[in-house]
Amino acid sequence: MTEDWALDACSRMPSELGACRAVLSSRSLARRLKRCQGGFGVGRCFLCMAGIVVKPRARILHGHDWVFASEVLKVFGKPEDGDVISLKDGRDRLIGSAIYNSKSQIVARRFSRRKQDLDPDFFKRRIAQAAEYRDRRDVDPKLRRIVWSESDGLPGVIIDRYGDHFVLQTLTLAMDVRKELIANAILDLFGAVAIIERNDAAIRKAEKLDLHSGVLRGDASREVRIDINGVKFDIDLLHGQKTGFYLDQKQNYAVIARLARGRCVLDCFTNQGGFALACAHAGASEVTAVEENSENVSVAKGNAELNELSVNWVEQDVFQFLRSAEKAERQFDLIILDPPSFTRAKGGLRDALRGYRELHVRAFKLLSKDGLLATFCCSHHVGEAAFAQMIADALVDARRSARKLRKFEQALDHPVLPTLPETEYFKGFLLEMMPGR
Ligand SMILES: C[S@@+](CC[C@H](N)C(=O)[O-])C[C@H]1O[C@@H](n2cnc3c(N)ncnc32)[C@H](O)[C@@H]1O
Repeated sequence: MTEDWALDACSRMPSELGACRAVLSSRSLARRLKRCQGGFGVGRCFLCMAGIVVKPRARILHGHDWVFASEVLKVFGKPEDGDVISLKDGRDRLIGSAIYNSKSQIVARRFSRRKQDLDPDFFKRRIAQAAEYRDRRDVDPKLRRIVWSESDGLPGVIIDRYGDHFVLQTLTLAMDVRKELIANAILDLFGAVAIIERNDAAIRKAEKLDLHSGVLRGDASREVRIDINGVKFDIDLLHGQKTGFYLDQKQNYAVIARLARGRCVLDCFTNQGGFALACAHAGASEVTAVEENSENVSVAKGNAELNELSVNWVEQDVFQFLRSAEKAERQFDLIILDPPSFTRAKGGLRDALRGYRELHVRAFKLLSKDGLLATFCCSHHVGEAAFAQMIADALVDARRSARKLRKFEQALDHPVLPTLPETEYFKGFLLEMMPGR
């Protein structure tokens, strides 16, 4: 066995690693291992990647990028959780490189169709490509989601930019153990910025990761103020919901604000007041905003003061508010419904639709004769067709008629992959009530 043959055999058949180790001179092996230190587990050579053989019906053979535990035919080469592995079909053909976590239901997530290392160059390249994609779509370069997980070829990595502050989430084990490499790539690409880690998202539990947040790089002590269409928001990147702000709605504030002039507006689930403040700024006659989380309400009040805008903030459950508003025979000309996801699992779909229906029936009853409803849904499991049908059912229950004016699409900095339906979650409609029917 020659050294070249051994390396070649290793790259084709990782299970040969033991035999090849015996042939490779220790200096040559050390050189190879050093070269791939950034991307692989200790003692694991890029050429000798361990991996998974997937079952013939695995979704990854039909374009998806995930391998579920039930789709694994064989594991070879003893991969460790957090490693980069090779994915193969039953005929020993490579179908890509993936990150591995045996403790997750999704045991492997492909990030390349080739043999690929998770090294510093890879992270820089993928983050730069993601930023360029958003540049081409004209998304504000200083206020955007720069990286959105699988949609940008970095499974589990989320990077949001708020001016000179970057918020990083590493939601998969493999990315979490490489977060220093990711932070370095951000600094290399964008210069001296502060990087805040928001790894307190509950989804990390699915990868058996702990929950925490903190500052990874730079000085994050300064207040962060953003401006959306002339409305300023002070945001708390360390403690605010998600990564500090709902960036996926920012383009819709302008759309709704254009409809608000002279109207009596109700913003349900206002969070930090995004829609409410945009409407007040645009000249709504009156704005009421409802939110159950007291911290969000106090941030929203601060933002109203900052902009010298007047909004009636109500700290209450939206369903309760709508019930009392109906009893009091209140009317609104524009209602915004932007609830949290009512289900994170397919099994919860029926209950979720029941919840959305009740919400819409109550909102329809409060709308003036030609009132407008802007309604959004961020549940991946509630598809657009089901959401539209629920709206139709709610109109029947409320004995109202309406015209559909437009759809709302997922924000451009949250791209959808047709091959990965899980990347699509956002949908919405604008409706106008029809008088006298
Ligand atoms: C999807 S966010 C809304 C984002 C907001 N429209 C924006 O543009 O920033 C949902 C908000 O609803 C709040 N919330 C959840 N359930 C609620 C309820 N039953 N009543 C009132 N607020 C609720 C959450 O605290 C969260 O701030």
